[in-house]
Amino acid sequence: MSQAASFTSLTDACRATPPAVALVLGSGMSGVAAGLTPLLTVPFGAIPGLTATSVAGHRGRLTLGEWAGRRVLVFEGRLHFYEGHSWEAVTLPVRLAAALGVRVLLQTNAAGGIRDDLGPGSLMVIHDHIEWTRPYCWREPGPGGLGPSRPSPYAQRLLDLLSEAAEPEAALSRGIYAAVTGPCYETPAEIRALRAWGADAVGMSTAREAQAGYDLGLECAAISCITNRAAGLGGAPLDHQEVLATAAAQTARLARLVTRFLERL
Ligand code: HPA
Repeated sequence: MSQAASFTSLTDACRATPPAVALVLGSGMSGVAAGLTPLLTVPFGAIPGLTATSVAGHRGRLTLGEWAGRRVLVFEGRLHFYEGHSWEAVTLPVRLAAALGVRVLLQTNAAGGIRDDLGPGSLMVIHDHIEWTRPYCWREPGPGGLGPSRPSPYAQRLLDLLSEAAEPEAALSRGIYAAVTGPCYETPAEIRALRAWGADAVGMSTAREAQAGYDLGLECAAISCITNRAAGLGGAPLDHQEVLATAAAQTARLARLVTRFLERL
């Protein structure tokens, strides 16, 4: 990785050549950025409004670099509501990326599989989400009092590009992601409720950021790495270390997928 740089040097570099894409890497997934040739790296703590992440498996740094011929901003780690951050802080990286010229937001996360075919190690492209992080963001009033309609924030063009980019021998699932606040994993009854609502996977991030990106006019996509069967569906109790290890085992595959996606953008 490159030497730690100042935030100002990174914003200057983005002003000179705006990055096309921002990539947000979730728990245990820093290795996905192996294909990135770094130009400048800034720790989250040096970015106004961001703080160092407190979660194991999240490095907490922002790198501007080149990847598959594209200029890319990579956020290694994210801030979570369950760490005590406000939704403003959680969505700040997305607003920052948009301000630096990014047009495409690709997020990755670790998630628990609810649908029967989503076992540990599966990758699922999110095509819509269920926002279970109260208070509901759709209760925030729009300019006229009533909020706007809320289509899925995930762009069909990017969903199609991700399907094209998938390795032929390993088809990529699509599904609905339920976003919960954490920090506790869900109860088995909550997972049954989410399944009845149509959720295919569950996790503690991504949805608010995708909504923020959509609201700013970014094309958004997200990929869940299924790290465990959701509560009550697998044998053993859920464990964060296991989540990290399963996510880390998929980094090479995710890295290839992201590279092939960037090549097709
Ligand atoms: N639930 C919520 N978040 C998660 C899970 C889960 O089962 N696995 C990884 N992140």
